[in-house]
Amino acid sequence: MPSQLYVGLMSGTSLDGVDAAVAELSAKTARPLAGVHLPFEPRLRAELLALNTPGNDEIHRAALLGNELTRRYAAAVDAVLARAGVSAQAVVAIGCHGQTVRHRPALGYTVQIGNPALLAELSGIRVVADFRHRDIAAAGQGAPLVPAFHAFAFARSDEDRIVVNLGGIANLTWLPRSGTVAGFDCGPGNCLLDLWAERHLGAPMDANGDWAAGGTVDEKLLERFLAEPYVSARPPKSTGRDLFNAAWLSAHGADAADPRTLQATLLEFSARCVSDACRRYYPGAGRLIVCGGGSRNAALMRRLTALCGPVKVVSSESCGLASELVEAVAFAWLAKMALEGVPASVPAVTGARGPRVLGAIYPK
Ligand SMILES: Nc1ncnc2c1ncn2[C@@H]1O[C@H](COP(=O)(O)OP(=O)(O)O)[C@@H](O)[C@H]1O
Ligand SMILES: [Mg+2]
Repeated sequence: MPSQLYVGLMSGTSLDGVDAAVAELSAKTARPLAGVHLPFEPRLRAELLALNTPGNDEIHRAALLGNELTRRYAAAVDAVLARAGVSAQAVVAIGCHGQTVRHRPALGYTVQIGNPALLAELSGIRVVADFRHRDIAAAGQGAPLVPAFHAFAFARSDEDRIVVNLGGIANLTWLPRSGTVAGFDCGPGNCLLDLWAERHLGAPMDANGDWAAGGTVDEKLLERFLAEPYVSARPPKSTGRDLFNAAWLSAHGADAADPRTLQATLLEFSARCVSDACRRYYPGAGRLIVCGGGSRNAALMRRLTALCGPVKVVSSESCGLASELVEAVAFAWLAKMALEGVPASVPAVTGARGPRVLGAIYPK
């Protein structure tokens, strides 16, 4: 079959905004034609963040916010199609992840808000959404879902590779030269760093990790963070802001610490969650491919490089995919899998009973 055009939309746990990509997908290749990032303004970000914890009249707030978010998604679709010079009619489907506000696979649910019917209406394009529930229905974690795409885009027959997506949460994918793809959420990526930067710098992030880099790691505090049971629990496992949030920081002694020391310690914690997991589960990898916004955090990349050696730490750019577009292209690809009826979950990752076709289709 010739290649076809899909749009992928990802807005992750960082709550920084929505990433949209137009990708040309074939049976063997994924080629992004254009990408757009539409940031969420502070008010929208704050309202989305508030929905991550129990509060008043949540159903109403989630519905309204889901519609607002969807109008933002539609604007991202328009912008990315314009940038690529592609018409809506030429697009087979949009793969839309939605915005996670709760993730409780052990209780049988995960919640991604957004209104796929409204997105189909606004864009005039078929939408595939709700990618996670079928895997949870089959007793899986419903996350991470990107490993199948990582295998498609990054696996090689001459090198064992690991992919890490440094989003709000960090997730790993193991791509052995031969054998089974594996992976799991290894711990926080940017979410705690962002939270602390917001509180003490009044900025949505610690740009390049500069603030953290000027601080000193508190080894006792680091040990306390690393003692979090989630970190040492065996996969399959997935997590989110349900665990790694302001309450978690307070419970782990953050409020008493010097703010900059804490930021340095949080950065080391994120890096150690990745490097310890790689060493424990996937020894012998030749390369660690980094994608997601955390790959822009120079201090975090320096620590990963130092901690993971002799594994070569590289950005996904060096493998032909811009780091900020990997997840959006992954959801474009997952939409294609849904339309073709191809199971795209990896039971070895999610712990589900078996592979399943993921996603619900909203015709245009
Ligand atoms: N220049 C930068 N310096 C430090 N951190 C950055 C930089 N650019 C992006 N980030 C981090 O990446 C996050 C966004 O990453 P992203 O991959 O979109 O995560 P998610 O999928 O969770 O939304 C930001 O919230 C921020 O923490
Ligand atoms: Mg994001």
